[in-house]
Amino acid sequence: MCGIVGYTGKQSAQDVLLAGLKHMEYRGYDSAGIALVANDELVTYKKAGKLNNLQQVLANENVPLSNCGIGHTRWATHGAPNDLNAHPHLDEANKIAIIHNGIIENFAQLRTELTANGVKLQSETDTEVVAHLLAAELKNSELDLVAAMRLVCRRLSGAFTLVAISAANPNLIVGARRNSPLVVGLGDGENFLASDVSAFIAYTKNALELGQDQVVEITRDSVKVTDFSGNEVAPKPFTVTWDAAAAEKGGFELFMLKEIADQPKAISDTLLGRINDSQIQLTELAELKSALISAEHILILACGTALHAGLIAKYAFETWTQIPTSVEFASEFRYRDPVIAANTLCIVISQSGETMDTLMALRHAKAGGAKVVAVCNTQVATIARESDAVLYTHAGPEIAVASTKAFLTQIVALYLIGWQIATLKGHKSGSETAQFVTELSALPAAVDLVLDTVEDVRNLARELAEKQSVLFIGRGVGYGVALEGALKLKELAYMHAEGFPAGELKHGPIALVEDQLLIIVIVPSPTQQQILHEKIISNIQEVRARGGLILAIAVEDDHIIDEFANFVVRVPHLNALLQPIASVIPLQVFACEMATARGHDVDQPRNLAKSVTVE
Ligand code: G6P
Repeated sequence: MCGIVGYTGKQSAQDVLLAGLKHMEYRGYDSAGIALVANDELVTYKKAGKLNNLQQVLANENVPLSNCGIGHTRWATHGAPNDLNAHPHLDEANKIAIIHNGIIENFAQLRTELTANGVKLQSETDTEVVAHLLAAELKNSELDLVAAMRLVCRRLSGAFTLVAISAANPNLIVGARRNSPLVVGLGDGENFLASDVSAFIAYTKNALELGQDQVVEITRDSVKVTDFSGNEVAPKPFTVTWDAAAAEKGGFELFMLKEIADQPKAISDTLLGRINDSQIQLTELAELKSALISAEHILILACGTALHAGLIAKYAFETWTQIPTSVEFASEFRYRDPVIAANTLCIVISQSGETMDTLMALRHAKAGGAKVVAVCNTQVATIARESDAVLYTHAGPEIAVASTKAFLTQIVALYLIGWQIATLKGHKSGSETAQFVTELSALPAAVDLVLDTVEDVRNLARELAEKQSVLFIGRGVGYGVALEGALKLKELAYMHAEGFPAGELKHGPIALVEDQLLIIVIVPSPTQQQILHEKIISNIQEVRARGGLILAIAVEDDHIIDEFANFVVRVPHLNALLQPIASVIPLQVFACEMATARGHDVDQPRNLAKSVTVE
């Protein structure tokens, strides 16, 4: 959370920074700001609210031409989201500008120290202390901005990416990171720093990965990386695989609608290269082969939508591998005393690969002896780097804050892992795998069929847009879908929405049911899961008897449901464990349209950020 971009080169820094911030806005949109070095001075523009507000300010200003600057889009932690607390922050002499992502945990103590030394702080942020600490170090004329940054970083605790410029160095940008992301983009006569590659993929695909506790200095022609003690380190180069066009709306009104439509391709890209001759081959897991074979417990850790992918995968893992599988909120995991049994395989799931709760849970599991496999979408993210192996979902950049295509590809990637473990343990024959591979390969076409119903679902959402509360129920893998449907509605439409296992309804939540309350039911297949189907029909009856309105997500050949539901959305009939891939899509579309009908910003819902890099 908080998006950071720095540029030094030959183009207009203002233009590059604003374009970069547009792609970083998913990380937070409480305020935006830029600082430029021009004529040996720093000029700063910042404004509360979305990037548009800053752009309007800039349109009315005579902004000097500059080829070096930094930009920030904020998700507020310390201090209200107003102009004053917007980044960049400056030292008292207006000679140093700093932007920050993360939380400086010892900021109160540093603030007291600065105040005692007569410094007058302007904002309520934790960030501003860094500008003043840098200025204090730079009073020592022996030091330059890079050396000062190293010294200051050594005094900070918490998580931070910091990027600074100074009026004294018109071509230099200094960045530092601990527990928060920062990557370097390498151009020709220009270089970039950013929270993630989407800020610079329009200009270069060549990038450098920075390690923990490192400081980077870039000019238009050079990049140098050191640790916090000043020892030079060699950063790891990588080539960005994302396509710049994939980070654009491509003719859709909303990123979310585009990303929903991207799902067939996202699934085929995630399968690509992992299926050979009707068998699954995950070369990424080759080095963990013995850990996979000896795994006796599977522990899945994740947050939000990624957690729901894990909850769905649990059913498949236990069915295929016979290994007890638990799924835990990453944010809770390290704050109790979890028992990490011998031979635990931990799977962490994170689209961004930067979620702090998940990262901390990963470290805790690793310290407890578990082998860790990550399922990530973003290249070289911290979670990917710190895991023993990583299986990337190839969903491409996901910009809308509410996750869609990442979710489907997480389920696919998890299923590949589960099947691989089952095969290694001797539970799956070659012919069973061939059958499963056929089913996996048919998924993109099935998702395409679901997408044909988007307009019907949008109409239905508009019809139901006045509802204040929606319950979601499901059984088996349908429970995870119910949770995800409810989360989408909360995130986007700001409605009361809750997901329950259908059988639990009668143990309490049924008290919520009153006349015309909408209940969305994820209906299992009547042929593959006859018993569950019968049970859920009973649950539907219990609700209808109390006046509830039923919207069923049912498979195409389920004709029994018509009699019991007020509305039915049909999805293709898949293998029961794969069914969530189809069933969740109408719920994504439903939430998106509900939010639109209520006048909300779908791509940037209030209070949320896509990449949550604080605990
Ligand atoms: C935030 C986002 C959610 C997301 C969760 C986990 O809360 O708003 O949409 O599911 O983080 O994100 P991750 O990047 O770890 O998958």
